[in-house]
Amino acid sequence: MDRNNLQDFSIINFPSLLSTNTYVKQHIDELQDFTVVTADVQTGGRGRLGNKWIADIGALSMSVLLKNADNPQNITIISAVAVCLVLQEQFGVSAFIKWTNDIICEKSKICGILCESSIKCSSDGKTAQSYIICGIGLNVNQNKDFFVSGGLPNGSSLYSLYGKKYDKNAIMVAIIKKISELMKDDFSEVLFLYKKLCITTGKWVKFIRNGEEITAFAKDIDENGCLICQNDDGEFVVNSGVVRVRGLNGEYV
Ligand code: BTN
Repeated sequence: MDRNNLQDFSIINFPSLLSTNTYVKQHIDELQDFTVVTADVQTGGRGRLGNKWIADIGALSMSVLLKNADNPQNITIISAVAVCLVLQEQFGVSAFIKWTNDIICEKSKICGILCESSIKCSSDGKTAQSYIICGIGLNVNQNKDFFVSGGLPNGSSLYSLYGKKYDKNAIMVAIIKKISELMKDDFSEVLFLYKKLCITTGKWVKFIRNGEEITAFAKDIDENGCLICQNDDGEFVVNSGVVRVRGLNGEYV
C-alpha cells in the first residue's frame, strides 16, 4: 500500500506511557499494520542491551508497528536511514549513523532505535504472522542539563546543539513517511545510503562484548547490515546484537 498521506497511518498519542514499545507489544493484536504510538512523556523507556532510555517531554518517543513486513530484518537499517535523511533534508540537521543504529550529531547521540521482533504461529501451526516494533527515541527539545543530570555524557538534543526548538510532531510524521517510502525501495539502495551515512566504517574501533574488548578496523558493512572487520586474527563479521562500539581511546564516536 502506498502511504503518502497522514490519514494512511494510524497514529495514537498518549500524554504519558511507560514505554511506547511495551504498549505496542501489549496491544499487538488489536493494532493494525503501520500503527504509530507516541507518548509525550515516557517513564520507563527501554534501550538496547537492556539499558534504560530516559525521555521527558522534550523527547520524541515513538513506536511503529509493522505486521508481516516483506523483509523484517531490514527495518533497523531502514529506520536509521529514514531518521538521518529526514533530519538532513527537512530540518537542516547534519545527522549520521553510528553502527548499527545510533544517530549522531556533532559527535553526540541524539537518537536511539530499538527494533523488537516476534513471530506468532496459528494454533494449527499452518500460518505465521511476523511483527516488528520499531521504537525511535529522538532527543529534540531537552536542554543540556537533562543529559548532565541523567548521567548521559554522550547524549544531546537538537535544541541543546542548535539552540532552537523543533516541532516533535512534524518530525514524527516525516519519519513515518520516510520509513514507508524506503520500505518500498530496493534494499540495495537503502544499504548504499546507510553506508554513506555510517561514520563507523574506515576507523579502528573497540567492541565491548560482556566486558571483553576486541580491537579491529571496521572495513565495511555487509548485505545484512553487519560490520566487516579486520585485525591480526583476520577478517570477521560483527552482528549488532550484543556489542558496544567505541573509539580506540574509549570515546563514544
Ligand atoms: C538505544 O538504546 O539506543 C535505543 C533506544 C530506543 C528508545 C525508544 S523511545 C521509543 C521506544 N520505546 C522504548 O521504550 N524504547 C524506544
